[in-house]
Amino acid sequence: HFNNIPQAADNSFIKKLQSSGRSLIVFYGSQTGTGEEFASRIAKEGTKYGMKGMVADPEECDMEELTRLKEIPNSLAVFCLATYGEGDPTDNAMDFFEWLHSGNADLTGLRYSVFGLGNKTYEHYNEVAIKVDKKMEELGATRVYELGLGDDDANIEDDFITWKDKFWPAVCDYFNIESTGDDVSIRQYKLTEHSDLDVDKVFSGEVARINSFKNQRPPFDAKNPFLSVVRVNRELHKSGGRSCMHIEFDIEGSKMRYDAGDHVAVYPENNAELVNKIGHLLNINLDQVFTLTNTDEDSTKKHPFPCPCSYRTALTYYLDITSNPRTHVLKELAEYASDVKEQEMLKLMASTSPEGKQLYSKWISDDNRNIVHILEDLPSVKIAVDHLCELLPRLQPRYYSISSSPKLYPTTVHVTAIKVEYTTPTNRLVKGVATSWLGTKVPNEDSPPKVPIFIRKSQFRLPTRVETPVIMIGPGTGFAPFRAFIQERDLNLKEGKPVGETVLYYGCRKRSEDFIYGEELEECERNKSVKVHYAFSRDQENKVYVTHLLAQNADELWRIIGEKNGHLYICGDARNMAKDVHNIVLKVIQEKNNMSETEAIAYMKKMESQKRYSADVWS
Ligand code: FAD
Ligand code: 2AM
Repeated sequence: HFNNIPQAADNSFIKKLQSSGRSLIVFYGSQTGTGEEFASRIAKEGTKYGMKGMVADPEECDMEELTRLKEIPNSLAVFCLATYGEGDPTDNAMDFFEWLHSGNADLTGLRYSVFGLGNKTYEHYNEVAIKVDKKMEELGATRVYELGLGDDDANIEDDFITWKDKFWPAVCDYFNIESTGDDVSIRQYKLTEHSDLDVDKVFSGEVARINSFKNQRPPFDAKNPFLSVVRVNRELHKSGGRSCMHIEFDIEGSKMRYDAGDHVAVYPENNAELVNKIGHLLNINLDQVFTLTNTDEDSTKKHPFPCPCSYRTALTYYLDITSNPRTHVLKELAEYASDVKEQEMLKLMASTSPEGKQLYSKWISDDNRNIVHILEDLPSVKIAVDHLCELLPRLQPRYYSISSSPKLYPTTVHVTAIKVEYTTPTNRLVKGVATSWLGTKVPNEDSPPKVPIFIRKSQFRLPTRVETPVIMIGPGTGFAPFRAFIQERDLNLKEGKPVGETVLYYGCRKRSEDFIYGEELEECERNKSVKVHYAFSRDQENKVYVTHLLAQNADELWRIIGEKNGHLYICGDARNMAKDVHNIVLKVIQEKNNMSETEAIAYMKKMESQKRYSADVWS
């Protein structure tokens, strides 16, 4: 967090709990803020049951104190933990996770409960929460309520409130608490509006350090992004109505380095029209400068986002105004509705009754309403804008698989991004936040467009030995990192190195429409630096996918990954393609070796651990 320099003496959560008369502590392992948001909702609700709660970042706490938490009467530790990548904890929960698994702590007497945040499209679903829940018990702690698992591919909000609805009665039962039943709405942050602040003291979209965009200082990272000049922004599709951008970000002088396979993150801005609409609907002055300050003095998070700033800045740079709002936001919105019908509808959607869940799923999820749509469709809801700013989640950076090799392009980073655009069931045209904003970043002489970026290292890497053969499967924008890989293999070949077989499975709709980087690829084919299997899915009557071709080429697949110990890479849509590839490879391994399914699964696990089977997928 910004503005939050933890002090050495500050990391005793037991002291904090004791000095403020609290017994409930909710730890979060969070990367994008959802885990943290769930944690604060639990901590807040504790008041309803006479359990004053506190949210805590494990990274800022002496977690060994868990062995002593039992000294506080009726104390309870809750964990909201997300799983990332290959079953990894979030950065802020890493040390805690490792400490717990070192297995030396005696947690006898500790009362706990765990909720996990995961995504079923990925392997290792919710592994962190599952492991922590199990390990705690092994170390002697008492589970007060069973492990809850949230699936972000379906409806994680629903999973969470359903779990929470049973969690509280279990807690009350365990501690013999009578619910006070009062559903008090408490503000977490206090508002101050400023009238005469020097502009230098007001944030204008910086991620953490004030004036960091005017005064750029390396090292550049997620907290301190580099303002990169867009050198190229060109359309890759020839026809077909969709748009795919090839963008080149200049990183010269930034001291940022990258490797083929890394990701670049972009901090986008929300659409100005949408921001203006909120100002208009709530009848406020968007240029008013304000500060939100945490009322909990023990919290290390003083502000929900960089403050002071204007409402326009908060709604443009810091807050997510285009996702479907969660139920706790609807609950607070209800308090501001002057129309009884609108109020009842919001309350119903925020409830856990079957009718409420059904309405949420229809009116919010299926109809795909964001906060702007809700304020438009329920005109009596005039929420105080500072309260809205407290409730909305943080706007997240967007990641892109870098589509260039630093060996060829040491001073630029290339991105291949398909523009998101669709119409919702209520007939609203929705444009993707980052891709529509990047679309406006067209190079010009006078004032070159700039975009805040940082580079995130990945594990997606070409084999260290150039002789090792590779198979790459990347339909659509999944081709992005393979463009970089092929650039390197092509270069190696030109340098006279003994480059192993390089096989690509390429997929798009039609050769005449979305055959992105077609000329480059054909040039590499002529150079013999790559062999391509093309799946133009819509160029014939029946669909042809990369996966169909892969299944047909079982001999080649086995020769490369089995006989020659080659590497296999998958990039692109996580939902179907990656799973299909997984199943095809499994079947080929089974058939070629006369293995049982269990043996073939073990074989693939080994491939994964040796980095011979890697996926760079998103959904
Ligand atoms: P948002 O405003 O975030 O909107 C996207 C959301 O809109 C979707 O999540 C979905 O919920 C919804 N949506 C989209 N289409 C529809 C529809 N038809 N109907 C209903 N809802 C819909 N993208 C690339 O183009 N190229 C890449 O190389 C690439 N690499 C990535 C690598 C990683 C590791 C990750 C995590 C993602 C990658 N992405 C890539 C995706 C990228 O990060 C963004 O998610 C994408 O560009 C959309 O961002 P946006 O802000 O424009 O859209
Ligand atoms: P389609 O749109 O014609 O169905 C890039 O998006 C390419 O991937 C398109 O040709 C698309 O085909 C194809 N595609 C869609 N689903 C796929 C899947 N499950 N496996 C492989 N390719 C797929």
